[in-house]
Amino acid sequence: MQRTLIIVKPDGVQRGLIGEIVGRFERRGLQVIGMKMMRISPALAQEHYAVHKGKPFYDGLIRFMTGGPVVVLALQGNNAIDVSRKMMGATFGFKAEPGTIRGDFGLSSSFNLIHGSDSPETAAAELARFFPPTELVEYKLTSCEWVYDYSGGQPQ
Ligand code: RTP
Ligand code: MG
Repeated sequence: MQRTLIIVKPDGVQRGLIGEIVGRFERRGLQVIGMKMMRISPALAQEHYAVHKGKPFYDGLIRFMTGGPVVVLALQGNNAIDVSRKMMGATFGFKAEPGTIRGDFGLSSSFNLIHGSDSPETAAAELARFFPPTELVEYKLTSCEWVYDYSGGQPQ
């Protein structure tokens, strides 16, 4: 099972889309193993988006991500990283496919509602950045017996 880090960005919180976004992941079958509301400090935003430092949108991105509270989620499931990136949709809302979170709720190139880890390496770093190990909750999700086929012993 793979883990990934999701952030409902400040625009998602302010537009009342926390439940909608979390609900989509739940309904897909992904397991919520961490969740909290927080304000991202400028230092944390700079660390999180360090790969974009120097790009024209970087300063605005830091202002955006620190401009209001966010909800941070740790999700677990089969191919959780790719599955959630596909559910998020393309970066710019006006280009994102309908059916995706950005494609259903966004039009902006900057205010795009959600962040998701884009590789196993970034997921590990981002989960550690936002969740101390004690805030990740290990538990058996009883519905997993119907989300996956366990007849072979392993979830398929
Ligand atoms: P994220 O990292 O937030 O999950 O988004 P992403 O992978 O789809 O996009 P990325 O290229 O990593 O860009 C990070 C965030 O910067 C803002 N952005 N603005 N105005 C622009 O041209 C522009 N380009 C990127 C978006 O908030 C994007 O999600
Ligand atoms: Mg990115």
